[in-house]
Amino acid sequence: MGKLAITGGRPIRRKPFPAWPVYDRQDERALQQVLTGRNWGGYPFPNERADRFARDFARFQGAKYGLAVANGTIAIEVALKAAGIAPGDEVIVPAYTWEGTVGPILLLNAVPVFVDIDPDTYCMDPRQIEAAITPRTRALLPVHLGMCFADLDAIGRIARKHKLAVIEDCAHAHGGRWRKKGAGATGDLGCFSFQSSKLMTSGEGGAVITSKLEYFERAQSYTNCGRASATDRFHHRLIGFNYRMTEFQAALLAGQLRRLPAQAKIRLTNMERFESRISRIAGLATLKRDPRITAVAAYQYVFKYLPEHFDGVPRAAFLGALEMEGIPCDGLFYEPVYRSALFPVDPKDFPALSWGREPVDFKAVRCPVSERAAYEEAVWLPHHIFLGTAAEADGIADAVEKVLEGVAELRGLRHPAIERKAMSRAERPRVEKRQW
Ligand SMILES: Cc1ncc(COP(=O)(O)O)c(C=O)c1O
Repeated sequence: MGKLAITGGRPIRRKPFPAWPVYDRQDERALQQVLTGRNWGGYPFPNERADRFARDFARFQGAKYGLAVANGTIAIEVALKAAGIAPGDEVIVPAYTWEGTVGPILLLNAVPVFVDIDPDTYCMDPRQIEAAITPRTRALLPVHLGMCFADLDAIGRIARKHKLAVIEDCAHAHGGRWRKKGAGATGDLGCFSFQSSKLMTSGEGGAVITSKLEYFERAQSYTNCGRASATDRFHHRLIGFNYRMTEFQAALLAGQLRRLPAQAKIRLTNMERFESRISRIAGLATLKRDPRITAVAAYQYVFKYLPEHFDGVPRAAFLGALEMEGIPCDGLFYEPVYRSALFPVDPKDFPALSWGREPVDFKAVRCPVSERAAYEEAVWLPHHIFLGTAAEADGIADAVEKVLEGVAELRGLRHPAIERKAMSRAERPRVEKRQW
């Protein structure tokens, strides 16, 4: 029997972390009011609570217009459509993100072009973008990942030079600010997810924000089965779908928005406390804190585990041991999308992939920084575990230190917790349990 919980020792923590999502009596009353009011759906569009929430959320993020939609993947599709992305257009995306960033591009029969990430932030590396631009490029789609921002200054400069739209994937960035401007408000459009794990959630849900009326009108029409938008200044008529948000979702989101600033403060204080401890550990590395990020949206605390400092003990062993100490954590949270089994692209289904001189072959793409992050070094800690006390945040750091001090016990160890941590998301539905 060893000292680590995974080899039979006492775990650092047995108690669950603060539950997520959070709700209160006001949320219960709001849901009850929707129920008894019998006005449940998204039609007539925009319905009352969804419209109020979308306006409040857009104002909070610093954009003129907000639109509530059914989920975050749809928010990206709507934003692409609003920006006029058409079949055959190319959209540049970071390789290291959720498949939901990229799927909507294909769905519109446009072409995703992957670029690598910056090793300091794990977000789209602006130094890679210009080499990926072709005459067909129409948009840049940066993702603000974990608790970082893609470099919106550099991305904006490139976009202006090449006349490209910027669509920000802000699924991790509710309340985050770049140079005092809310996530999604610097680019042309911002897309948010309110899926269960996110910083604001209604179980499922999404939002698109923009300050351009024309984009807003197109987005509304596409979300509401092609009907005219409320203002209809630009008379756009699109084939659209029912992507509306229900009033139940909107009722929950009003409370989520109300609580966000206070939660963000607690999380950040605890994460900084945790970071001050782990940044002293040789063999771990933290991501860069960019001073242009004037409000951090801490969806997950992300750091690097450098296996070469631990005699090649793989990240999955570190993570399996950490989880057995009572700390929820993940490593293969994202894969480079082009390599993910959740991205089984058959060119027959997406004709634009074969319209160029050479057909697009995602198997040939290589983004080494993304691959190293995904398969070797990135560690993701969910935000809700930082919603507790300072002592609980210290406990997370204690667990990391304990596992690394006992890393010799992990050499060659086989354990189901380690096997789980080595699994990709595509393999996981069989074993995945909710971590929040
Ligand atoms: C980076 C990123 N983009 C897009 C999405 C898609 O959001 P949803 O799950 O609400 O469709 C998610 C969330 O799952 C995400 O994390």
